[in-house]
Amino acid sequence: MSNLTGPNIQLNELGQLHHFLTIEGLKQHHLVEILDTAESFINPKTREIKQVPILRGKTIMNLFFEPSTRTRTTFEIAEKRLSAQVESLDIQTSAAKKGESLLDTLWNLQAMQTDMFVIRHAQSGAAQFFSQHVAPHVHVLNAGDGQHAHPTQAMLDMFTIRKHKGSIYDLKVAIVGDVLHSRVVRSQIQALSILEAREIRVVGPKTLMPESPDAMGIHIYHDMEEGIKDVDVIIMVRLQNERMTSALIPSEKEFFKLYGLTKERLALAKPDAIVMHPGPINRGVEISSAVADGPQSVILEQVTYGIAVRMAVMSIIMSNAAQLKQHHAEQEAAQASLNLDDPLTLDAIVEANS
Ligand code: NCD
Repeated sequence: MSNLTGPNIQLNELGQLHHFLTIEGLKQHHLVEILDTAESFINPKTREIKQVPILRGKTIMNLFFEPSTRTRTTFEIAEKRLSAQVESLDIQTSAAKKGESLLDTLWNLQAMQTDMFVIRHAQSGAAQFFSQHVAPHVHVLNAGDGQHAHPTQAMLDMFTIRKHKGSIYDLKVAIVGDVLHSRVVRSQIQALSILEAREIRVVGPKTLMPESPDAMGIHIYHDMEEGIKDVDVIIMVRLQNERMTSALIPSEKEFFKLYGLTKERLALAKPDAIVMHPGPINRGVEISSAVADGPQSVILEQVTYGIAVRMAVMSIIMSNAAQLKQHHAEQEAAQASLNLDDPLTLDAIVEANS
């Protein structure tokens, strides 16, 4: 079982990523390494994402306990581009239905020589729970857990911003919509602040905002026009109706009237502002078709970059594992030579041979 605990729950003893569960607690160099590695997978001329043999012989299992289109498919494509063996399980239709416990399912799947699990689950903390119960050589990637985190989505968003703006540093970013229930927004805010965005604004009605914004280092706006004024990046997010326990907005029509991103409103942001959305988009609820399909929208680019970014995370984790193995081998070798240099040991050998 993994012995990673505390704040370094996802880092190995060399401070490198062993799992990828959350953006929280990571250093800038961890994020930059992911962005730079993702860049290396994209052919600069054709913009095609390369096929590389980095994970040949490795088995990756995608466990989706919650529905997903983009995340699941781009993970699968990324795994195949890295030449891994890929298995995807729709867990809703498998053993869980027959009463098998989650951990028994996990251990059975691990026994099939799995090197890495990609997990999406409706329960916050699910990926971390799995990471604490897998064998030490097995890695867990969080593909979205409840309202908690969606770290690869945040990284593909950072990648898309960097592609268009050169860097995250000094940018003004507005995130609009259901901030309260969104795991994507939580991870985005952490990534933006680690990468030193100048200003992070969240925009929406009181009922959809976090209770302690100061702790998150963000500025809250309830007025859409004010909130997106002069920003470099607008990130729209969906109303997470499945996570609302009561009606938190009067109606979708009303929401669009107050917070929907229209062409007129977009004109308040910087002229070269980009419009992003993790998907799925709801046209006429949080975004108009004219904006979603318009020249400032980079929504579909986000999906494409998701492949390169997920390849980056997986290849970094496997390369870290190889480095750790090497480190342990060197430590053992150093220990062995120490023992040889030890005069007591030499004396003992001489005596034993005399
Ligand atoms: C998001 C998710 O599932 O967290 N989508 C995604 O992964 N691209 C956002 C959402 O469901 O609104």
